[in-house]
Amino acid sequence: MSPPENPAAAVLADAARAVAAVLAGQSADAALAPFEASPRRPAVRAVALGTVRWYLRLQAAVESLLARPRALGRDVHALLMCAAHQIEYSRNVPQQTVHAAVDAARLLRQGHASGLVNAVLRKFVLQRETLFARVDRDPARRTAHPRWLFNALQAAWPQQVASILDANNAHPPLTVRLNPRRRSAERYLEDLVAAGLSAQRLDGVAGAAGATAIRIEPPVPVASLPGFREGWVSVQDTAAQLAAPLLDVHDGMRVLDACAAPGSKAAHLLERTASLELWAVDIDPVRLERVSETLARLGLSAQLAVADVRSPETFWDGRPFERILVDAPCSGTGVIRRHPDIKLLRRAEDIAPLAATQLEILRAAFRMLAPGGRLLYSTCSVLPEENEGVVARFRAEEPQARSIALAQTQLPAETVFGIFGAQLLGGGAAQTDGFYYACLEKTTSGH
Ligand SMILES: C[S@@+](CC[C@H](N)C(=O)[O-])C[C@H]1O[C@@H](n2cnc3c(N)ncnc32)[C@H](O)[C@@H]1O
Repeated sequence: MSPPENPAAAVLADAARAVAAVLAGQSADAALAPFEASPRRPAVRAVALGTVRWYLRLQAAVESLLARPRALGRDVHALLMCAAHQIEYSRNVPQQTVHAAVDAARLLRQGHASGLVNAVLRKFVLQRETLFARVDRDPARRTAHPRWLFNALQAAWPQQVASILDANNAHPPLTVRLNPRRRSAERYLEDLVAAGLSAQRLDGVAGAAGATAIRIEPPVPVASLPGFREGWVSVQDTAAQLAAPLLDVHDGMRVLDACAAPGSKAAHLLERTASLELWAVDIDPVRLERVSETLARLGLSAQLAVADVRSPETFWDGRPFERILVDAPCSGTGVIRRHPDIKLLRRAEDIAPLAATQLEILRAAFRMLAPGGRLLYSTCSVLPEENEGVVARFRAEEPQARSIALAQTQLPAETVFGIFGAQLLGGGAAQTDGFYYACLEKTTSGH
């Protein structure tokens, strides 16, 4: 008879599999997908994402205990990191984590390494204060950021770098966008209290998003939100809830959402108006399917097209749009707290090609804008190269583009205003993601 499975060991083994997959280049979502139906899912997720979040700090400490860190198999390495995470960041008794890790090595069919796992983790438990005292002298390591990103953030935001790094390591809040056509804020807050949830409206701290943003603490699974299926609310960070009000759409307008999937901002645009001719375009057919689902849940409709927006001739009927949202693909450096795998997967050399794509998308979208029409460019990046840099390059080449200043009153107080747009660096009173917005108008003449 085989011995009964130690639940903590099973969680560590699954989390190690997921972390190993991220280290091999998979996104955390993909790496955690095999555990979607597992009863251990919440625990595996918490350990794996926590390990990924703090990986670069843990790695520096654990590897200093190994004679040949590169000689470890991928699963054993990931297991050591997960166990070190539990020892450093959970309230579990360290010795129990060491025992669970030894059992987990067997579950991973790495029984030959159980002696090493035991020895390294025992040393880690005993020496971790000294180890981290040394590691933490380096602020990039202390905050578990890759060197290139730490340097880029420090160069771009010398005053705010410490708070950006801290915000990146925080656990993200659950923020919803209320659909005022379905439920008033007052009624919905009552619904939340009745469901035993604690919530807070963000009016007064979130600029134009304050009308719809409600933060629920602690976060709960989306399906347990009152009225979610009925379309009373959608999950959307406060920073992303600024896009629709900033685009300033009015009834009857013809609007293009050029990078629409999964459809959160498209839905918000439609919720704000009684009638809108909205075109939602995305290059990714699987992701565009999610726009359909989102709109169906909310009882909204739009014209959907799978297309590369850089080739308007493949989907556009030639009639200009009065408003365009370009929510461009980006590095995601503003949403690291939600996607800590970005710290491990993104590379410095990704940024210039992303900026080139963003400029191409902006160029093509602007061609479809009506004279006098407005285009809102946004990213969830905090890197100027993808934000002010892209808009600056576009403004320099396009005589018909004029910048429209975004009103301070529409944005959270912590927003940093650049020459062209507004940068949210993440955190602040509204605990937002990092986001960038710039508004352009098409003039009828040149400069
Ligand atoms: C930041 S996401 C958009 C999020 C969306 N606006 C929302 O609020 O739910 C960027 C999207 O751009 C899409 N995309 C990337 N390159 C594109 C292109 N050349 N043309 C159209 N869509 C593109 C990606 O598939 C991705 O879904």
